[in-house]
Amino acid sequence: APLKVAVIVGSLRAGSINEQLARALAKLAAPAMAFELVSIADLPLYNPDIDDGRHPAPEHFRAAVKAADAVLFVTPEYNRSIPGPLKNALDWGSRPYGEACWAGKPAASIGASPGAAGTAAAQQQMRQVMTVLNMAVLGQPEVYLQFKEGLVNEQHDITVQGTEAFLTGFLSRFAGWVRQQQLR
Ligand code: FNR
Repeated sequence: APLKVAVIVGSLRAGSINEQLARALAKLAAPAMAFELVSIADLPLYNPDIDDGRHPAPEHFRAAVKAADAVLFVTPEYNRSIPGPLKNALDWGSRPYGEACWAGKPAASIGASPGAAGTAAAQQQMRQVMTVLNMAVLGQPEVYLQFKEGLVNEQHDITVQGTEAFLTGFLSRFAGWVRQQQLR
């Protein structure tokens, strides 16, 4: 069976380059991995007072993550850090204490930016948070992508051959990492 991967895009923006990248990766990953985009757009701002099991969006979000074999974050960088909506989603998934949907999940975080640093600062912080959440974080390869107009076309294909080869390599290493974690 294909590995089921919950893909979480750290941008809420229509036309997000990170969402474009996520959709292109979904196409490249099939059929070995089935990517499912799990939206963070409807999560309210985290507040323990409303974390009482009665809000459908967080419960749906946690269930979608729990049902996956692995998690892939595809996120922009905001002010050299993790975008607030994504940190909010990480916090929602971290509770109830001891029952976090993230725990034990094989995971990786990548991202794209128009800037040359390609989200490296945000990814570094993602690794820190993912580790605290007890996810099994893929160390290599790192993907910090400088996104240039047209890199992903309307059919969600990567138009630059070298980049497509690099991303295909990343996906196969990620799939191998997930399977290895499942055997532990
Ligand atoms: C940015 N951007 C940005 N880019 C970057 O490489 N490093 C950064 O620290 C920031 N900071 C930042 C803050 C805020 C509030 C915004 C809105 C943007 C630019 C960012 O990379 C660009 O807008 C991307 O297009 C965002 O990704 P999505 O939304 O297209 O996926």
